Amino acid sequence: MSSAANPLRDAQDRRLPRIAGPSGLVIFGVTGDLSRKKLMPAVYDLANRGLLPPGFSLVGFARRDWEHEDFAQVVHDAVKEHARTPFREEVWQQLAEGMRFVPGVFDDDDAFRRLKATIEELDKSRGTGGNFAFYLSVPPKFFPSVVEQLKKHGLSDAEPGSWRRAVIEKPFGHDLASARELNAVVHQVFRPSEVFRIDHYLGKETVQNILALRFANTLFEPLWNRSYVDHVQITMAEDIGIGGRAGYYDGIGSARDVIQNHLLQLLALTAMEEPTSFDAKALVTEKMKVLDSVRLPADLSNHTVRGQYAAGWQGGVKVPGYLDEDGIDAKSKTDTYAAVKLEIDNRRWAGVPFYLRTGKRLGRRVTEIAVVFQRAPHSPFGATDTQELGQNALVIRVQPDEGVTIRFGSKVPGTQMEIRDVTMDFAYGESFTESSPEAYERLILDVLLGDANLFPRHQEVERSWEILDPIEEHWDTHGKPEQYAAGTWGPAAADEMLARDGRSWRRP
Ligand code: BG6
Repeated sequence: MSSAANPLRDAQDRRLPRIAGPSGLVIFGVTGDLSRKKLMPAVYDLANRGLLPPGFSLVGFARRDWEHEDFAQVVHDAVKEHARTPFREEVWQQLAEGMRFVPGVFDDDDAFRRLKATIEELDKSRGTGGNFAFYLSVPPKFFPSVVEQLKKHGLSDAEPGSWRRAVIEKPFGHDLASARELNAVVHQVFRPSEVFRIDHYLGKETVQNILALRFANTLFEPLWNRSYVDHVQITMAEDIGIGGRAGYYDGIGSARDVIQNHLLQLLALTAMEEPTSFDAKALVTEKMKVLDSVRLPADLSNHTVRGQYAAGWQGGVKVPGYLDEDGIDAKSKTDTYAAVKLEIDNRRWAGVPFYLRTGKRLGRRVTEIAVVFQRAPHSPFGATDTQELGQNALVIRVQPDEGVTIRFGSKVPGTQMEIRDVTMDFAYGESFTESSPEAYERLILDVLLGDANLFPRHQEVERSWEILDPIEEHWDTHGKPEQYAAGTWGPAAADEMLARDGRSWRRP
């Protein structure tokens, strides 16, 4: 056995429960979609899994004329509709006893006084110990007033032995300058270690597995570099349109919505060097090094593409184009599809392009990272023997069919030496009996535990805007997005972009 392994310690470590201590969560923007579909169900699922303390308390803050019971009813309905785990009355009852609602708007001092009184009351009646996380599930324009009010009313200051934390939802700004302003505002009130920025992709099991796959194994890492990898494709395709989110989405578009955060985080995890440990500081150090090495192509017209969905068919249903969606300006130039080519200027990746693409109303919902390997440097087989052999690839299937696929060539049974692509699959559903928690379950638990590993730091957010800003500026001054029919794989220009490099997009 290797001297590094210590079975006793490992066994003990795994048994250490990751259960939150006495605490409460205050949600600003509690009437929004995110809160109803993700946050409330995640809180219930955590309680149901026994990961919250018995006195855990949930406080909603919003401009509604609600009593505590009305709020609890809204949470109840959200849980019934969206929770991942089965509904259990006794779990619900215990959780519901700790629910409070504070009506008010963000510039209302009285409302924040009521919030303070509510927190003090919960400390007494539920034993929350002064430990509260404030979740800002509100548009960034409200961040300054919320954090200033928290400061003004002494809510951001923890008593000795307790903690206060701020949780911030994306979008974290709309460019580098606005992100810097927001960071400055937040850091006037909270210390960096008290700020948790949500990128919910980092809460996904399959995303955390990128690091396990790379650094807990010997098999892959020797090949994970420019000597063997031809290029990397990171795809986040959605079949949905923008739904009721016109107000948020129009003028923002797909690149700001998900490339700046989710896709650049996936790139960072795929391309970074091994961190010295799995703690927040070590991870940020490595992610920052690789983000700092990202280089944009000189010719943005040829190496970036944006598109906008037109009417089309999706799953047998006729769906409207983006410009016909409710609340969208008929002349909007907002991108609903974006593809970019990035290079990473370091010794490991020099010359290996990373192609990132995302879009709404594409052929199907799929997020994956495909590491595509070079062809064998020499083939002893005849050209016709291998004409159906593609490039080897390792595909991390982030969702929905979570797992990992390796594609390689194999001899077709028969009397000829014919070689064709086959795949070897790992599927979560087959290898593990437990189902994956929702990203927000993991992230909310980590906030309550003060564990910052899975949260991007402000440097990463700012550097990501620095990467995206020149592309957005280029798009602002060059033409408009190309239309693509809903239900297809995006604009023709995206295929042309890869074809110019002698490559093609995967059809997942
Ligand atoms: C959000 C984006 O961050 O991620 C949405 O704002 C997108 O536009 C969503 O639909 C996708 O998340 P998931 O977890 O369903 O892939």
